[in-house]
Amino acid sequence: MGVERALALKTDEALDWVPAANEFAEAVIEGLSSSPKTLPCRYFYDARGSELFEAITDLPEYYPTRTETAILAAHASDISDRVPDGAILVEFGSGSSRKTELLLAEMLDIAAYVPVDVSDTALAGAKQRLDARFPALHVHPILGSFNEEVIYPSDLQARPKVGFFPGSTIGNLTRPEATELLAGMARTLGPNGRLIIGVDLKKDAHTLVAAYNDAAGVTAAFNLNLLTRINRELRATFDLTQFRHEAVYNPREGRIEMYLVSERAQQVAIVGHTFSLAKGERIHTENSHKYTIEEFRTLAREAGWQPETVWTDEKSLFSVHELVQREPDLSFRSKPSY
Ligand code: TRP
Repeated sequence: MGVERALALKTDEALDWVPAANEFAEAVIEGLSSSPKTLPCRYFYDARGSELFEAITDLPEYYPTRTETAILAAHASDISDRVPDGAILVEFGSGSSRKTELLLAEMLDIAAYVPVDVSDTALAGAKQRLDARFPALHVHPILGSFNEEVIYPSDLQARPKVGFFPGSTIGNLTRPEATELLAGMARTLGPNGRLIIGVDLKKDAHTLVAAYNDAAGVTAAFNLNLLTRINRELRATFDLTQFRHEAVYNPREGRIEMYLVSERAQQVAIVGHTFSLAKGERIHTENSHKYTIEEFRTLAREAGWQPETVWTDEKSLFSVHELVQREPDLSFRSKPSY
């Protein structure tokens, strides 16, 4: 990021020159300058956003968390049996680490648990709870995003690595982004790496939409909190009463799309830029892609993983996949790669 771009953002009401704030400002300005307008979903998780997300996971309509938790609880020992002794468990986007606790209770011989998350408050809370429950476990939190390369402490570098990526966070990426992320995780987890990943399954649109548009309005508050954060951190002027949450299922893309809809024609100022919104204009804030088991296994193969076991629930709402690093198979080359 060049000095010129940083200076371009300096106005009367300039932000202090904090690189992280500049990155946020640039992402927001870029998103609101595009057509249709978007906002970057990775900024949902400030302290309040993480709190609201925890509340979403308890909602009656939001089936993914409890279903995935039940799958993990039912198969925790099976999953743990596949983790080599002395391995480290790396969780991408660990949040509260609550689901992981089910696995950690069975993984008695791992060398460390490495939770990676963008929220320092979430990491601190999780570490405190895990230290109390598993005094012998080495917990090594890393502040960062799930799509950054993980820099391991030197004593853990040579260990076999097992990744854990629950919550169907993979669904928040487009297919090409998801393939790239899975390939990046393969690099971060090394040649004999394994990955346990939770993926929400395709189902009727009614169930899907309800999960992202709950009656109590928690998901709406979560979506709107992004504007609150932009107001606070980028000194923007979003009027929170003039936007509403919307969630729709796009069957062609196989995904839930979340929007913030402008209730009237209005203008918003953000670090020296002004954006106009028409009445009814939508800002696209998030996607949540849904897969069939086979669609996801194909995606994993494209990213260089070998899909092994799949665990699911009775109603086939959610899936947990075990992926392993694939030996280079030369016969594969003679066939088309899809
Ligand atoms: N990855 C989860 C999902 O898509 C969690 C999530 C991300 C989410 N953004 C969200 C849940 C917004 C509700 C609303 O379901």
